[in-house]
Amino acid sequence: MNFELNDVQREIQRMCREFAAKELTPNARKWDEHHTWPTDAVKKLAELSLLGVAVPEQYGGAGLDNVCYAIAVEELSRGCASTGVIASVNNSLYCDPVMKFGTEAQKEEFLTPFARGDKLGCFGLTEPEAGSDAAAQSTVAVRRGDEYIINGSKNWITNGPKADAIVLFTMTNKEAGHRGITAFLVPTNTPGFTRAEPDKKMGISAAWSCSMFFEDMRVPAKNLLGKEGEGFKVAMSTLDGGRIGIAAQALGIARSAYEEAVRYSGERKSFGKPIREHQAIQFMIADMATEIDAARLLVWRAALLKDKGVRHSAESAMAKLYASEMANRVAHKALQVHGGMGYSKEMDVERHVRDARITEIYEGTSEIQRIVIAANVLKE
Ligand code: CAA
Repeated sequence: MNFELNDVQREIQRMCREFAAKELTPNARKWDEHHTWPTDAVKKLAELSLLGVAVPEQYGGAGLDNVCYAIAVEELSRGCASTGVIASVNNSLYCDPVMKFGTEAQKEEFLTPFARGDKLGCFGLTEPEAGSDAAAQSTVAVRRGDEYIINGSKNWITNGPKADAIVLFTMTNKEAGHRGITAFLVPTNTPGFTRAEPDKKMGISAAWSCSMFFEDMRVPAKNLLGKEGEGFKVAMSTLDGGRIGIAAQALGIARSAYEEAVRYSGERKSFGKPIREHQAIQFMIADMATEIDAARLLVWRAALLKDKGVRHSAESAMAKLYASEMANRVAHKALQVHGGMGYSKEMDVERHVRDARITEIYEGTSEIQRIVIAANVLKE
């Protein structure tokens, strides 16, 4: 067992830390306040090969491992949680399934430009009536000759307003339940596709999401991702990777909140000394530091298992469950350390509280993670 990062992993950490300090941290509050999509930062993510971290170089990616990916998302999210999830969705929820289930022709069209960052992808699973119950899809795809006619809608699609293509989940056989779900690769310039304005949200305001609609949208059969009826497995195995990304995002948010609390506790004085000399504050800082480290170990373990190519559903769910709930606890404690200033929009910590909240919800709520963990633990 080795807890040391290798040279490449350390270099990614250094590079992402520097990028976040220079380009993300100084802008994150402003982007949040104005709900600004971070156009230039996303362009720079592409230049730094951070939109296809674990995609092989032959398909436009950086060809690195998933520990590098987790490190990158943590560092980006430490600077700006919105930018962290924009990267995570393109990496894990879009590129990953195309890499795993796509044909060579599909990879050329739907992977290389996206891993390179020339184009952006999104993941169309959630529907108004199918969130946690992902098998209850009502977007329908009906085969007509060499194409499918797709009708339905999706919502809460992160990157949706900017995406050039969707990994889209549809129902091709309602009677078959989860075995009737089929995934497609759909360019967003396909006639019959429309999208709504970006959603108004409590946090991660710079990471736009939206509803999308499909009206008699014709998609060629060659755009099937995996086989007909295999879509639920495509979705679930993709989320096993995606949950590592969200856990890493939660870790980044927590670290930012923690580091600000540590700094503030050295500046702010009460009862004649810096507040960090009071045991009440020290205990909060000790809890925060311990929980952040514990979460990181879970995240890196899940990433290592993914690199080994073994099933890591439970480990990813544990990482996401623990890191997301930890990030909420840490952000709340950090706000408490800041006292009244923590509640002010002049500080970043109130944003971390709002940003942390979504990590317990998207890519599977904490309750869903517990279901996945229990199912795996109890079958052993
Ligand atoms: N990998 C591969 N196959 C898997 C799998 C995995 N991780 N998990 C399940 N499967 C397979 C099973 O082997 C089973 O296959 P068979 O039919 O061959 O037996 C099949 O899928 C059904 O499995 P289960 O019976 O375990 O499924 P279930 O219906 O009991 O539970 C669930 C499924 C865990 C509740 C699932 O519905 C789930 O994860 N829901 C949450 C969905 C979610 O995370 N949504 C987030 C949307 S994306 C998002 O938020 C994106 C964003 O914008 C940031």
